[in-house]
Amino acid sequence: MSRFTAPLALRQNTNDVSTAAARLVDISKPMRQVRALATRAAAGDAKVFITGESGVGKDVVAQYIHAHSTRASKPFIAVNCAAIVDTLLETELFGHTRGSFTGAYRDRMGRLEAAHRGTIFLDEIAEMSLQMQAHLLRFLETGEIQPVGSAGGPVRVDVRIISATNRDLEQLVATGAFRSDLLYRIKVVHIHVPPLRDRKEDLPSLIEAASTRTGRQIRFTESALQALSRYRWPGNVRELQNVIEQAAWMTESENVDAPDLPEVVRLASTEGLTPRRERRKRLADELYSTLVDGHYSFWGHIHPLLLKRDITRHDLRQLVSLGLAATRGNYRGLLKLFGMDDGDYKRFMNFLAAHECTVDYRQFRSPNPIIIRPASIGLPFEVHDSRKVTRRSTEF
Ligand SMILES: Nc1ncnc2c1ncn2[C@@H]1O[C@H](COP(=O)(O)OP(=O)(O)O)[C@@H](O)[C@H]1O
Ligand SMILES: [Mg+2]
Repeated sequence: MSRFTAPLALRQNTNDVSTAAARLVDISKPMRQVRALATRAAAGDAKVFITGESGVGKDVVAQYIHAHSTRASKPFIAVNCAAIVDTLLETELFGHTRGSFTGAYRDRMGRLEAAHRGTIFLDEIAEMSLQMQAHLLRFLETGEIQPVGSAGGPVRVDVRIISATNRDLEQLVATGAFRSDLLYRIKVVHIHVPPLRDRKEDLPSLIEAASTRTGRQIRFTESALQALSRYRWPGNVRELQNVIEQAAWMTESENVDAPDLPEVVRLASTEGLTPRRERRKRLADELYSTLVDGHYSFWGHIHPLLLKRDITRHDLRQLVSLGLAATRGNYRGLLKLFGMDDGDYKRFMNFLAAHECTVDYRQFRSPNPIIIRPASIGLPFEVHDSRKVTRRSTEF
């Protein structure tokens, strides 16, 4: 189609997409409705807008639509708008010519062009800057792209747009962070994927599918299944898969019993028996261990949990305190500990400040290191009220 090299690594294998789509579990009524709507959408070319909490299966639904459309044999290209810095997102989507900016050593085809005749999946679209939103809107109006730095004419591309978000875009429109004209353009068919806690009928099949994925022969005891079904699943199907995988490696036999499950899941089944304060302290401990052992990441799990109010600011402050105790008051040290990139320091500090979760680091600067074992002991210190912490005190 053009003079540009295609970003080959970005193309998802057509087989992978259709296998993922075939795995869509829809035992519950709300998921059967999701599948029915997705099937209808697949028959046409209308733009689809998928909403739902993190981990509910928005990617799976997008792949399902592509796999059941006439575009199935063409590329399905996913772009995570939150994972790419804004300056790069433009060239990722629209492509660039050689020499158009420092480091652009050769012409590169954008993902929109690479998805020609196929589908582009714009994930986490709420994270797009207003400038990128304007570029995207122009593309949607004209169907043409102009690669960055290109003096040639625009290129026409035929792509089906599916977008997704776990945020409330109407609210972002109200605050001016998202363009209403763009929202109306992308939201022709709206599919909302409900959280797992509202469709527990899907649990047995999802547990079975997740168990098969582990490659180990495992069976769940009745009490383990009860605990799994009582838990609220704030991280939805993705969290369920993590828990099953962890349990599969925890158990010595092929039977997974309740004690093999992570504490957060087990605690959900004894809610009435544990005092509230104790439960919350243990929640911070549990989140801390899952972060430190790499099962969770701060932006992937903790961030959405707080935004969805599945954990409180108090929980987050406790979590930060646990981390600071381990890094002896070094905020920068939390980046690695909590699975963040080195460049995330500012974003992390701003996030804590915006939610009044900044904790005074000075109390952790004791000459004797504090050795902390999160699951077994509570916080060996006082958590200060963050509102009393001045801006200076968070610097080091
Ligand atoms: N209904 C479902 N049936 C089968 N697997 C699912 C379903 N929903 C989610 N999953 C699985 O859960 C994980 C998270 O799903 P994903 O689509 O990435 O969530 P989201 O995009 O909403 O964050 C994936 O591994 C996916 O295969
Ligand atoms: Mg996703």
